Amino acid sequence: MVRGGSSGEDAGVTTETSAGDSLAGRLAAIVGAANVLTDADLRATYETDWTRRFTGSARLVVRPASTGEAAAVLRECTAAGAAVVPQGGNTGLVGGGVPRGGEVVLSTRRMQELGPVDTVAREVIVGAGVTLAQLNEHVRPHGLRLGVDLASRDSATLGGMVATNAGGINVLRHGMMRAQVAGVEAVLADGRVVSRLTGLKRDNTGYDLAGLLAGSEGTLAVMTRLRLRLVPSFPKVAVALMGMPDVAAAVDIAAMVRASLPSLNAAETFFAPGLELVCRHAGLAAPFAREYPVYLLLEAADINDPAPALAEVLAHVDAPDTAFATEPRDRARLWAYRERHTEAISKEGVPHKLDVALPLASLPEFVERVGRAVTEADPGARAILFGHIADGNLHVNVLGPEPDDERVDEAVLRLVAGMGGSISAEHGIGVAKTRWLHLTRSAADIAAMKAVKAALDPKGTLNQGVIFGD
Ligand code: MLT
Ligand code: ZN
Repeated sequence: MVRGGSSGEDAGVTTETSAGDSLAGRLAAIVGAANVLTDADLRATYETDWTRRFTGSARLVVRPASTGEAAAVLRECTAAGAAVVPQGGNTGLVGGGVPRGGEVVLSTRRMQELGPVDTVAREVIVGAGVTLAQLNEHVRPHGLRLGVDLASRDSATLGGMVATNAGGINVLRHGMMRAQVAGVEAVLADGRVVSRLTGLKRDNTGYDLAGLLAGSEGTLAVMTRLRLRLVPSFPKVAVALMGMPDVAAAVDIAAMVRASLPSLNAAETFFAPGLELVCRHAGLAAPFAREYPVYLLLEAADINDPAPALAEVLAHVDAPDTAFATEPRDRARLWAYRERHTEAISKEGVPHKLDVALPLASLPEFVERVGRAVTEADPGARAILFGHIADGNLHVNVLGPEPDDERVDEAVLRLVAGMGGSISAEHGIGVAKTRWLHLTRSAADIAAMKAVKAALDPKGTLNQGVIFGD
């Protein structure tokens, strides 16, 4: 397991273990003793990330239920010089939401507000600890949903999704999480609260703090309440799964369908090795009698049935094996081949998850070169690829290397940067990619980001080591 090296003292912020902790008593006075977890068994689920690659022991876990409680908690922690790791649903994949060793974990999961749905503005105010599935359940009676959707919808919290600027499967239609944020309430490291939840369509009064906090990975503030934009939840949905001869064909077809079908919701890809893992671990039959090197999954959604329009567009495509589905159960069956990749890979071992973006025109060349780059860096390693093809976002999952053996990460991320891509498309930098931030951000960019961090969190309380390294 990868453990952070920032134990002990750093920039006046301390990390300790929980035994005889007087801070625990002061935090219990704020949130109640039941919401300060010092016992190792109770802390355990907060200490290891979803991949199992990143882990560290927490000094304690504190679970405030409101902005006021979070403010008081952060005031105490900063005054005590205690480092804090904010955590939502702990579905992150880059080690940004788990302790490196000795920090206080501030869990937002008790922030469960579900405000009335503003059906005119199509917005809603929610607590940071509400999950994506809970939000969608809450707004569904109004024919609405969040524009971002992802496989971890039952566990991922909205605060975490904003903090990491999550992407998911509908980015091509609705954008990433930052685009869904109409306002935030957040607590700075010293306990001050910044709040902009008015939902005014036009509000040009200075810096866009919500936009800044989206994607800041818990390094600038702890978001406690969010005003989120909603999109129509279209009743009619059609899915097509197609076998493709190569990546170039999948890229071209996804681009062509996107250009001619405004109702396109998703264009996803996966490859034969990933499909084999999914079928084996999930007990699914292969989708087609014949095996293809590449698969393309398309989804369209609209008020009226988009299936005829989707079929009409695909009629011009040379893809003999195409499966269509419109009924929820059949659609879920096709989506399972794509969405169950994460769990199937995890059943094979602890993966290095390299979430990258490439210019669309470079995707075929990248796919051809990345396999070689992986085996050259580590002949025992195996790469499983899948991702969001219309956005040029591929998930390079590498099985084989030990969690802290970074040779393959180095090779893949340098290849990506050399081809004009980004080392993180949607998962963030976390602690996993700090060493390579300079590959896709300039020295001036990094200095500007560090200046913002120093201005908002001068004592370095929040998520030390994330984005910039130690
Ligand atoms: C996905 O696209 O399924 C997520 O980003 C999760 C993953 O990469 O494993
Ligand atoms: Zn993804």
